[in-house]
Amino acid sequence: MNPPAIAIDGPAASGKSTVAKLIAKELGYTFINTGAMYRAVTWYLLRRDVDTADTAAVCAALPGIPLSFGKDGSVSCVVFEGRVLTDELRTPEVNANVSTVAAIPQVRALLVEKQREYNTREAVVMEGRDIGTVVFPDTPFKYFVTASEEVRAARRAAEGITESITERDRKDSQRSVSPLVQAPDALLVDTSDMSIEQVVALVVADIRKKLA
Ligand code: DC
Repeated sequence: MNPPAIAIDGPAASGKSTVAKLIAKELGYTFINTGAMYRAVTWYLLRRDVDTADTAAVCAALPGIPLSFGKDGSVSCVVFEGRVLTDELRTPEVNANVSTVAAIPQVRALLVEKQREYNTREAVVMEGRDIGTVVFPDTPFKYFVTASEEVRAARRAAEGITESITERDRKDSQRSVSPLVQAPDALLVDTSDMSIEQVVALVVADIRKKLA
């Protein structure tokens, strides 16, 4: 049996990254940001001038893709040519292309396998869109973290990022493979009127109750 896997899913700017990181710290588990994995593949394809809308071209570029999915301390990271990718994963170009790349089944198959590998060795808090539905469908620890569209847009604006999260969410929710959807057995956490501390406390309490 694998160690515990905590699945945190939700739309863009719902606060799930922040809370997932804090939950992992509180429990002493490894934090895995799966969005960064899809972003890294997208960044690499753009760097190679691959047309992200051309599925055949994307698939041709996947075998032997020179990205490694590892850990920096207790947090996941993506390494390219010996360097941890950070800011380059959050550019407007990556934002604009990542949902197209993430809709390609071969990309998802590759990354889901890497995501599951993390949990064979250690307990994880994994954040994404399909963690409770596809990556760990059998985990009893599933949380769907969301917030109203206004609150989410305001949070992105406060970070100085202007991007159409509505458009990205539409693409992520409407794709045919592993769409962003709340798992039927996930606990819905609407963070619109909650502080980060309240969200973390609520989720950690639920996890501890289930672990006991
Ligand atoms: O969490 P994020 O905004 O960094 O994710 C970037 C994109 O990656 C998101 O728009 C959809 C995709 N993604 C996905 O399809 N499945 C995941 N498990 C995580 C992210």
